[in-house]
Amino acid sequence: MQKHKQTQLSQPERQAPQYISTVQAPLYRASTIIFPNCKSFTDRHWSDAYDYSYGTHGTPTTYSLADQIATIEGADHCLLAPSGLSAIHLINSALLNTGDEVWIPDNVYGPTHDDVMELQKKYAINVKVYDPTQVETIQFGEQAKLIWIEAAGSVTLEFPDLIAIMQKAQQHQVLTALDNTWGAGLAFCAFDFGTEHYAVDISVHALTKYPSGGGDILMGSICTKNRALHLNLLRTHALQGIAISGDDAAQINRSLPSMVIRYQQHQNNTLKIIDFLKTRTEFAQILHPSLPVHTGHQYWKNICSSGLGAGLVSAIFHTNFDLQAIQKFCDQLQYFHLGFSWGGPTSLIMYYDLSKMRHYRTPHLSSGWLVRFCIGLEQAEDLIADLEQALDTLQHS
Ligand SMILES: Cc1ncc(COP(=O)(O)O)c(C=O)c1O
Repeated sequence: MQKHKQTQLSQPERQAPQYISTVQAPLYRASTIIFPNCKSFTDRHWSDAYDYSYGTHGTPTTYSLADQIATIEGADHCLLAPSGLSAIHLINSALLNTGDEVWIPDNVYGPTHDDVMELQKKYAINVKVYDPTQVETIQFGEQAKLIWIEAAGSVTLEFPDLIAIMQKAQQHQVLTALDNTWGAGLAFCAFDFGTEHYAVDISVHALTKYPSGGGDILMGSICTKNRALHLNLLRTHALQGIAISGDDAAQINRSLPSMVIRYQQHQNNTLKIIDFLKTRTEFAQILHPSLPVHTGHQYWKNICSSGLGAGLVSAIFHTNFDLQAIQKFCDQLQYFHLGFSWGGPTSLIMYYDLSKMRHYRTPHLSSGWLVRFCIGLEQAEDLIADLEQALDTLQHS
């Protein structure tokens, strides 16, 4: 058949031969996926991960990433979402119905709190907050459906008694969803921890942080072991048209081989920063699970026997440092930049007023402004010099 230039441009002939082998999974960009014949079209099934039928369903690039994340997490199934928060929302919207009770820890990632509160307003879902340092505050009702867990918790990094939470949830047949962004599948295995080999039902992970490692890509994952639960979540994933771009998946695929090394290096730097922060009189309290005085340190030690504890550390200033002083400190820093997120190469700082953030009293925390440092991959000595010069300017104000 004769082919006009316009047809040639619309239907290029060259396809990669089957035998070509590359280090990284090839990048597929697809909305349409062409069926080889009518039989493969009629045989397609939405629940089959290798049934390529449309871009929203997935491509070899996105499935390659999903498989790798499932491996890191020790799970059997993985779904990808365009951000960590969209993965969290997908779980809430797939599992919660009117009248159901959902439990969140007091130190939960702020937007997770906002998401369930919105569901409460719209669909009469019953939101309950528990104190992650006092498991007795979890009192499941008849309609309890789902409990969110963070280990360590956001901003203040308390490490909860994971095993006690699991036992309670299992007794009441409540689904457990761990936001595993901090542990990243490396500090401990969400599907096999403790001597009794506990496994959460769902592990959600903001791949935006350590898996991406670049501070430039947003993505989330939802890992499970139970196939029925996975299919339930996959159904919502498909119905909501949740899809990720092949380009973004390829970028994260490329970052994964260095993830373990980066995570360890973030931690090495963090431990050096902690040693420095401890020498400064400006701080009333340093918050990091590896510190013996930290709330939940013993639970961290038992669960994270790897000794890993990520690259976040928070510090609470003495109350004589007011908002103006904190802002001066943040603005004075040269290598720490004011911004949200973590897990990238660049060190970040953010300040918080704890008095506006908690439902329960927090006797384990000092009063005063809290700054959270996200430690990057710079040379630790440079970061310390930067902190030192910025703290010194506070002495002269
Ligand atoms: C603990 C935790 N979970 C989830 C998220 C959400 O991830 P994303 O930024 O990809 O929406 C974040 C983001 O900061 C986080 O800190």
